[in-house]
Amino acid sequence: MTPWEVEGRVDYDELIRMWGTQRVTDELLDKIEKRTGNLHLLLRRRVFYSHRDLDWILEIYDKEKFILYTGRGPSGPVHIGHLIPWILCKHLQDSFDTKLYFQITDDEKFLLHPEFTAEVAHNWAYHNALDVIAVGFDPEKSFLFSDMDYAKTLYNMAIRIAKHITLSTAKAVFGFKDQTNVGMIFYPAIQIAPCFFPSELEGRKTPVLIPAAIDQDPYWRVTRDIAEKMGYYKPAQIHGIFLPSLLGPSGKMSASESKSAVYTIDTEKDVKTKIMNALTGGQPTVEEQRNFGGDPDICVIYQYMYFLFEEDDKKLLGRRQECRSGDLLCGECKEYLVEKIVQFLKEFQRKREKAKDVLEDFLLKD
Ligand code: TYM
Repeated sequence: MTPWEVEGRVDYDELIRMWGTQRVTDELLDKIEKRTGNLHLLLRRRVFYSHRDLDWILEIYDKEKFILYTGRGPSGPVHIGHLIPWILCKHLQDSFDTKLYFQITDDEKFLLHPEFTAEVAHNWAYHNALDVIAVGFDPEKSFLFSDMDYAKTLYNMAIRIAKHITLSTAKAVFGFKDQTNVGMIFYPAIQIAPCFFPSELEGRKTPVLIPAAIDQDPYWRVTRDIAEKMGYYKPAQIHGIFLPSLLGPSGKMSASESKSAVYTIDTEKDVKTKIMNALTGGQPTVEEQRNFGGDPDICVIYQYMYFLFEEDDKKLLGRRQECRSGDLLCGECKEYLVEKIVQFLKEFQRKREKAKDVLEDFLLKD
């Protein structure tokens, strides 16, 4: 796994061991619940399962309030997987009354994709910003920027960071090769920079919490190595697992394979076609399903409900049991999910349209 590619089945427990992160424990969740009065389903279901220093962020909250940082690499339309960390961010923003810095890395996607012009990447930044706003962030407390548009402030911070990172560290952490363009090799300094913006812009050493899927962790490992040397706190993280591809239970969804994910701009017909063709944990025939039951643990449809589309824990458990016993058929389950997603997208697309009018309120510019 690199921040740009995830192949095969991901062993999430192994990542905790390999990367030295902490598991999200019951005790930590209790502390969050005490503060916020409730636990978001992405937390109570352990979709966000690993962290660094989240306990510290909670401990010092009364004295030093944290600020959220997350982002998006605009390589095409946003899919529902991308929304997962943003939905948690919104919940955290509302519950802890915090500011959010949101980076849109049009530079990264231009450098990464040979076929992209800078204009194409920058244009996707605009379209993806609408999705970010549609999640419902507070315009007074949320600051969005495209790297290309916020280049002056960003560059000034990035050079200070880049001076602390050697090529051998960058190669070891990100897997860069001799053929990698030098823009990509500098890029980590750009994604690290917003970790330190809150301290600079607020004029106080500020704790930062980064909600993201675990693929982005390589950046934070490098950041944490250099933060204190540069006079900042190490940023804290909360790491999510991936909403799986509709075509198989492993890995991340692919921007290049449109059938692998539901996009926020999909029509009802798109959703129906994609969900009806998705891989399930069901048996090949109705008769076998009735006799042997299905396996929700390898079912993408079940995962979609688990992540977002069945809020009620009792109903989710009921589905799980009915699937296992053979009482529930895959077709029925798929239809239920289609309905849930269509409802969700109808509302999301309405907000996305409205976002065009308020985009300017969210943008940070030099
Ligand atoms: P990007 O655009 O690949 O992904 C955006 C966010 O979505 C997460 N993610 C997923 N979460 C759940 N299920 C999935 N299938 C899934 N696929 C992606 C990613 O972890 C990410 O949180 N380089 C970054 C942009 C970035 C950024 C950041 C991300 C800049 N600064 C700070 C997080 C935090 C990127 O290309 O993300």
